[in-house]
Amino acid sequence: GPETAALVAGGVVNVADFPKPGIQFKDLTPLFADGETFHAVIDSIVEHYTDADGTLAFDTVVGVEARGFVIAAAVAYAARVGVVAVRKAGKLPRVAHSAAYDLEYGQAVLEVSEGAFVAGQRVLVVDDVLATGGTAEATLDLVERAGGVVVGFTVLMELAFLEGRKRLPGRSVHALWTV
Ligand code: PRP
Ligand code: MG
Repeated sequence: GPETAALVAGGVVNVADFPKPGIQFKDLTPLFADGETFHAVIDSIVEHYTDADGTLAFDTVVGVEARGFVIAAAVAYAARVGVVAVRKAGKLPRVAHSAAYDLEYGQAVLEVSEGAFVAGQRVLVVDDVLATGGTAEATLDLVERAGGVVVGFTVLMELAFLEGRKRLPGRSVHALWTV
């Protein structure tokens, strides 16, 4: 709700011309560094996917390297489920699937490990920022190719003017704060 949005908004610093000229970097390190803010933000994500009976809508959490890892591990711990890392190319010893994608600044490949999911496992994917949607599109594709069922994609911050949701048609996208 609005309280969570304000918490996220208060934890973001805009940095001009990083990592390239013309790019305004959204630095969320202050949000992560403040214990009460981090706790509240993580709890609000878990609550969003918990029904009135306390039943969770997901079985496991995926975090996207690197900034998504911080959020995914905390959400998984709070929800008492496991966590799966979607990694940038060359890090995993047993790669099952790869997906190339265009980033706001550059190109990259994401990978998921063999045996990451039990077939039909309900997966919540989390990341810090939804910008162009390239990272999310590739990650959701990887999860499904690996046998998972994507039940949602959550970010702390969405840059709506980059229209990332257009690359995620039919997906349940949840942003704690949208600018
Ligand atoms: C940033 C951010 C998201 C992604 C969003 O990650 O953490 O993952 O960009 O951009 P998109 O919607 O245009 O794909 P980045 O690849 O910079 O790397 P990092 O998480 O390892 O810092
Ligand atoms: Mg990232």
